[in-house]
Amino acid sequence: MTISLSKVNSGLVKVTVIGLGYLGATHAVAMAELGHEVIGIEPDSSKLESLKAGILPFHEPGLDKALTKVLAENRITFQATHDSSSASADLHFICVGTPQTKDSDAADTSYVVAAAKELAAWIKPTAVVAGKSTVPVGTAATLKAAMDEIAGFDVHLAWNPEFLREGTALEDSLRPDRIVVGTWSQHSVDVLKEVYAPILETGTPLLQLDVPTAELVKVAANAFLATKISFINAMAEVAEVSGADAVSLAKAIGYDERIGNKFLRTGIGFGGGCLPKDIRGFVARAEELGVGSAVEFLKDVDAVNLRRRDKVVELASQELGSLTGKKITMLGISFKPDSDDLRDSPALDISRRLNAMGAKVTVHDPVSLSALATRSPELLREENLNEAVRGADLVILGTEWKQYREIDPQTFGSVVATKTIIDGRNVLDVAAWQSAGWRVIALGRNISNG
Ligand code: UGA
Repeated sequence: MTISLSKVNSGLVKVTVIGLGYLGATHAVAMAELGHEVIGIEPDSSKLESLKAGILPFHEPGLDKALTKVLAENRITFQATHDSSSASADLHFICVGTPQTKDSDAADTSYVVAAAKELAAWIKPTAVVAGKSTVPVGTAATLKAAMDEIAGFDVHLAWNPEFLREGTALEDSLRPDRIVVGTWSQHSVDVLKEVYAPILETGTPLLQLDVPTAELVKVAANAFLATKISFINAMAEVAEVSGADAVSLAKAIGYDERIGNKFLRTGIGFGGGCLPKDIRGFVARAEELGVGSAVEFLKDVDAVNLRRRDKVVELASQELGSLTGKKITMLGISFKPDSDDLRDSPALDISRRLNAMGAKVTVHDPVSLSALATRSPELLREENLNEAVRGADLVILGTEWKQYREIDPQTFGSVVATKTIIDGRNVLDVAAWQSAGWRVIALGRNISNG
């Protein structure tokens, strides 16, 4: 069946993006950047007002400027709920979150279910619904059944997972390495091809898959990435007791193209709103499907990752003895650089634990201190880097922001009480720091401090 859509045929598609968290806000701006007419739908009034005013409710390099531009060009509008205007859209992207449930490892799909049901009451029969949220395999089939019943027709539902990374989100959205579309109807693929045409024209492959495979691609990709990081961190544990060096090891194995050198950076491990909860949700879903043993190893991936945090707490105690009253400065608190996301941040977890053990933990971070104030007010915050380390008994590098790599260890050394640093991300020039008189401790390495 060929469905004629005037807007689609002209190359411009009227789209809605439902859920304007990290993924949704980025996707909405990216769609507007591609020239489409975008309506962003977000029930949270503070997020909504912020976006309407052109202010991103989170830190993401480049996205703020792009938002200002598409707002000025009238290519994007924001509203709290569906209305007759959003109902006339040809394509609806569902981008709401699927956080870990409070009482189990499973993903909480209630926001996706609610968004799909609400939308089903409004959409026109020719419209396509593309799910972008990361969901347990099988979710889309349940959503489709619910939507068909509410809409009273066969809804064109597709699954179109997103692979963007925080810190490079807009670039990843506009220049992805692949577009994955899982679908039950050719019409869905045709509309998605239309909306992604400018990207496809640059040679980006579009993989047309069945829906369960498309759902699985996303969790499998994140599980693989998490496994790679935990693999090198497991090697770090072995290196620490055998006199080996995990950083050199990673470099050496990474030369093998079959292994590759990406995602082999050893340190305090992965955090954020995706990898940790996605591997847990994957195990929970596999267990529901009766194949828990197939992905049982992901529990070890999780455990290796969390043990790296224990290791830093242990090293701090070894260095300082009792932590009571000791000043520890944490450099970087977000889960990765170029982001103010504190969800499951290894640096935050370590800081909280050191603080609970009696240390006076002072945090410096280029962009995350206001988020930290809400999330962990018990931690001290200091915007000035030199003030943050003044009188410190121990410095820990928790997030590899560029500015920390560029610190002059000589000048820095004159401010602290004790020149000891734990490099939690293995990014410092050990020789330079040591020659400035610092004791450098790093994960997975046996650094001799003379
Ligand atoms: C991750 C995936 O990389 C994206 O492809 C995916 O779209 C996204 O999740 C998602 O599901 O939405 P993101 O969470 O932004 O992206 O961050 P990553 O770059 O994957 O880093 C995750 C964590 O791993 C960070 O804490 C980082 O510091 C850590 N990491 C990364 C390491 O410890 N070592 C490495 O070698 C690489």
